[in-house]
Amino acid sequence: MKPELKDKIKSIRQDYTKFQLLEENISSDPFIQFGIWLHEAFENGDEAANAFSLSTVNEFNTPSSRIVLLRDVSHGGFTFFTNYASHKGKEIEKNKHVSLLFFWKELQRQVRIEGTIEFLSEGESIEYFNSRPRESQLAALASQQSEVIDSRNELEDFFLNVTKLYTNKDVPKPNHWGGYVVISSKIEFWQGRASRLHDRIQYTLLNNSWKIDRLSP
Ligand SMILES: Cc1cc2nc3c(=O)[nH]c(=O)nc-3n(C[C@H](O)[C@H](O)[C@H](O)COP(=O)(O)O)c2cc1C
Repeated sequence: MKPELKDKIKSIRQDYTKFQLLEENISSDPFIQFGIWLHEAFENGDEAANAFSLSTVNEFNTPSSRIVLLRDVSHGGFTFFTNYASHKGKEIEKNKHVSLLFFWKELQRQVRIEGTIEFLSEGESIEYFNSRPRESQLAALASQQSEVIDSRNELEDFFLNVTKLYTNKDVPKPNHWGGYVVISSKIEFWQGRASRLHDRIQYTLLNNSWKIDRLSP
């Protein structure tokens, strides 16, 4: 790394002074609170506000993370879509415990979610697949997500082949593609505050009701 860059990351400081998160102003339901924050992130111009980091853990306890897009909040959980045969899909098959992390930079906010994964119903996956742009549908067929491929050309050939195969036909959802729902029992909302005295409010599901705790920053 260049010395200037090393200096930059060592010395850059941001003070967080925009908002506060106080017990008297939050919802007793973390899903409602999440909806409020997600809405505010979009309203603030963050077009990628529904992007989050998904961490999975394999059978050897090695974690791995990647960004995916939140597509729904319902069924008591957070829904995203992917290839079930991908690297993450294989890890999820072995270990249903995952962690989600949203970061809304401009609002100086983070939401951290722990949960377990369930499959979205096949019907709902098909419904969502059918609502996607045709190119995305074809790409889902052409891509063997996370597999090693020879070249960019190989991928584009696959895409061309499926495009030809489905000329004038509806593209069917591949069996290996669909939704997961993350059922959560722990959700933490972090609001940056001045002097590193940040607000951290954690919701934990206990006996079907949400316990609210404040955590030290
Ligand atoms: C902004 C953004 C959004 C993404 N959304 C998705 C998504 O919704 N589903 C998905 O499978 N991959 C998505 N990806 C790609 C993943 O980060 C990742 O490369 C892919 O899922 C393969 O991950 P895996 O090999 O760990 O399974 C997205 C990447 C970015 C940067």
